[in-house]
Amino acid sequence: MKYHITTYGCQMNVHESEKIAGVLSSLGYDEESAEEEADIIVFNTCCIRENAENHAFGNIGALKKLKKRKPELIVVLGGCMAQEEGKAEYFRRKFPFIDIVFGTHNLSELSTLIEKRRATGKKSVSLKEEREEIEDGIVPVRTSYPNAWVNITYGCNNFCSYCIVPYVRGREKSRKKEEILKEVEFLVGAGYKEITLLGQNVNSYADGETRFPALLDEVASLRGKYRVSFMTSHPKDFSEELVAVMKKHENICRRLHLPAQSGSDRILSLMNRRYTRQKYLSEIALLKREIPDCEVTTDLIVGFPTETEEEFSETLSLVNEADFSSAFTFVYSPREGTKAAAMEGRISDEVSKNRIMRLVDAVNAQTREKSAKCVGKTFEILVEDYDEKKNLYLGRDIYGRMGYFKSDRDRVGEFVRLKITKANGVSLFGEEEK
Ligand code: SAH
Ligand code: SF4
Ligand code: F3S
Repeated sequence: MKYHITTYGCQMNVHESEKIAGVLSSLGYDEESAEEEADIIVFNTCCIRENAENHAFGNIGALKKLKKRKPELIVVLGGCMAQEEGKAEYFRRKFPFIDIVFGTHNLSELSTLIEKRRATGKKSVSLKEEREEIEDGIVPVRTSYPNAWVNITYGCNNFCSYCIVPYVRGREKSRKKEEILKEVEFLVGAGYKEITLLGQNVNSYADGETRFPALLDEVASLRGKYRVSFMTSHPKDFSEELVAVMKKHENICRRLHLPAQSGSDRILSLMNRRYTRQKYLSEIALLKREIPDCEVTTDLIVGFPTETEEEFSETLSLVNEADFSSAFTFVYSPREGTKAAAMEGRISDEVSKNRIMRLVDAVNAQTREKSAKCVGKTFEILVEDYDEKKNLYLGRDIYGRMGYFKSDRDRVGEFVRLKITKANGVSLFGEEEK
């Protein structure tokens, strides 16, 4: 039997889809396929911005015809959008062909829901309030070799005023250190070459006395050649100890993703981010003092309610001042139920579009400039994939830079030394140094 999973949203959701695949495979669905050939289709949704939702709506709606032709097909809706207040019912009304809806706290029930549907043909919705315990123990079907994702925290307590995550993912919970280490040890032993620790705010990890820096120290100390990265770090919980651990281990990626969101203190305070521009910049200064070649990437939002042109220009100037090597840039999207959605002073689409274009230009110019400086240098990349269109292998170095090269045999999972010969935007092209 075949399955198809469509994933929207963040890395955490991508990893969640690997766990969904794990549940499906334990039920006998043993092959991933195109939608048309699947016996079960799962939508693992995201609701972080309106366009993420629209995207999913479009794809689910398009399934109506297929389901008519193949009534035995099971259609499942899961993820953050399913957990959103009132959305599950809305979906069931709008798309009556959906068989199962399950929330973000119900993964362990998915197999029972599917078995019930297979045995009785009955549709079901299963949305639970969040629970105390963590749903551990599902063995994921990993899809991202040589990288492996490992959850360290679930949920979020920060309630940034624009963000829906705390409402759909619940309160922050940390996994037990022993569980995490056991998983990482297994993965390194199984040949994974990069371990990415996942949490909405990894810096607030706490298991008894163990905080994030101590956990990272242990995760990076195993035997074997592998890299460790982590995301996301919240600037309010950034610490000297974290920098010290990064410095201590050469296998911890020299790229920190530290979402700034805005360069204006007034907007940061309205966003409930609990740091100032100055504090943010002093963290980067500390990081670069200790690890001078460390790269920093970020997330930035434009058009937050009441943002003035001057405040936007403070975000623009942060790009250069914080020396970002790249950034994810977003237009603010009001999310029902969040504090910011009730704020006055909406910024028009026209103004927001203009701001995001200027911001993207500034980020791209800086990325290109940094890439150009790489030409002539030699990096060690971990080969991740093969690009059929380009007919080249690609991988990333410890600074997160993407490098392409030619090879006549499969190199995925190998560390390769690459002499950079050409830069094009974020992509670097090189020749293998033997
Ligand atoms: N936990 C992470 C990020 C989670 S969401 C953190 O705190 O950094 C990823 C990014 O989406 C956020 O960093 C933010 O830049 C963006 N985002 C979240 N809610 C948004 C909204 N309502 N409108 C626009 N962008 C949003
Ligand atoms: Fe959302 Fe803020 Fe939590 Fe990140 S830290 S998930 S932006 S509430
Ligand atoms: Fe991730 Fe989207 Fe949910 S960003 S946590 S999948 S709302």
